[in-house]
Amino acid sequence: MGDKLLINGGRKLFGEIRVEGAKNGILPILAGVVLCDGEIELENCVDILDVRCMREILKLLNISTFDFGSTLYINTKNIKNEKITHDLTQKVRASIFLMGALLGRFRKVSIAFPGGCKIGARPIDIHLKGLKTLGVKIVERHGYIYCNASDIKSGEVVLDFPSVGATESLMMCACLVKGKTKLFGVAKEPEIVCLQDFLNKMGAKISGAGTDCIEIVGVKKLHGGRFKVIPDRIVAGTYLLAVATCGGDVTVKGALAKHNEALVSFLKQTACKIDVFSDRIRLKADKRLLSIDKIQTLPYPFFPTDLQPQMMVLQSVSEGSSAIQENIFESRFALVPELNKMGANIVVKDRTAFVKGVEKLYGADVSASDLRAGAGLVIAGMKAEGYTTISNVQYVDRGYEEIEKKFSSLGADIKRKKD
Ligand code: EPZ
Repeated sequence: MGDKLLINGGRKLFGEIRVEGAKNGILPILAGVVLCDGEIELENCVDILDVRCMREILKLLNISTFDFGSTLYINTKNIKNEKITHDLTQKVRASIFLMGALLGRFRKVSIAFPGGCKIGARPIDIHLKGLKTLGVKIVERHGYIYCNASDIKSGEVVLDFPSVGATESLMMCACLVKGKTKLFGVAKEPEIVCLQDFLNKMGAKISGAGTDCIEIVGVKKLHGGRFKVIPDRIVAGTYLLAVATCGGDVTVKGALAKHNEALVSFLKQTACKIDVFSDRIRLKADKRLLSIDKIQTLPYPFFPTDLQPQMMVLQSVSEGSSAIQENIFESRFALVPELNKMGANIVVKDRTAFVKGVEKLYGADVSASDLRAGAGLVIAGMKAEGYTTISNVQYVDRGYEEIEKKFSSLGADIKRKKD
């Protein structure tokens, strides 16, 4: 059944909290280490389920990892190219990044289709189309993908959609391919820039991450080294939305305002008091906030899909009504029935959730269905009057390190009940 969180809601949040390293920065880098021959020290790492799953896959590839504090030490000297099986890939979507990285290093890979949160079909057609454009031969059979890149060449790839994963996979695959590869229509998330910076630190020649076009000049090999991961903008945004929803006064240390511009601009419309500094963001909310009438999720730098459930919780108790349109994933409203159980008033029509703000939420027994919906339920439980029990907390643990301890440090009454 998994652990549960028990929350006694209705308390405001006060204090300071430091944001940890970015999950979606670390995961592609843990695939990228396959390209490097040597020892890597990855600073500002986090101990979350998705990172543990990726480390399990690296172990299969005979890559050793050990963590000391928030630094992960990785040694790829004895790497072996092994078939990556379904039992490993179904646990973490980021396993798919290994396809591009292993092709870059060994020109061959056998890997099962990836898993990940149930927020949509999550196809990998853009990944595969890009690899085929570079001359990779691909056979899909019985849930596995068999790629042969002996004839891979540098070239130009235009992505049909700015897919984060496809951008990262293709960047990694082209790193060790002779010549200049250009990727157009790429994703521009800060985690893409973080991956570029990591690979360049290890000897790659990549430029343009964060813009519409990324250029990779192939090099012979990548070496080891030390790298510090960027802070997690989604965890930072989760903390800000929690204090906006519950009320209080919280400073999120390490939050980079430039990575959260869309969220900050929305929050400024709600009548909370938000102060932005170079390396932290402070939010004060001492009364019921105003609704934001229209919100839509779009690729970076617009409002991120990974904060949509948490924003929905804020809108569910704000004054007025809000229409939240989810444009990135086709089924990312799993939170709605659980929130309505707690007294929210939300109706979903196609890709839009129509939220009528209510004065109060009431504690209930609810269940997490995916990572960010689970984070939304934690915020709802801390806001609600009375007791809330959240089951399937393993989903939340995929992306948040000891979430109950973090919010307890800000005054929430939240405990974990181990399974
Ligand atoms: C990354 O997922 C993130 N995960 C997701 O975060 C994030 O929500 C997403 O990017 C969008 O920003 C990691 O970085 C590990 P996509 P990814 O490829 O790469 C469609 C979280 O909560 N698509 O940008 O899987 C796809 O179905 C997670 O931390 C194709 O159609 O996302 C989706 O509708 C959830 N074909 C859209 O594009 C493809 O080949 C965006 O997907 C690839 C994607």
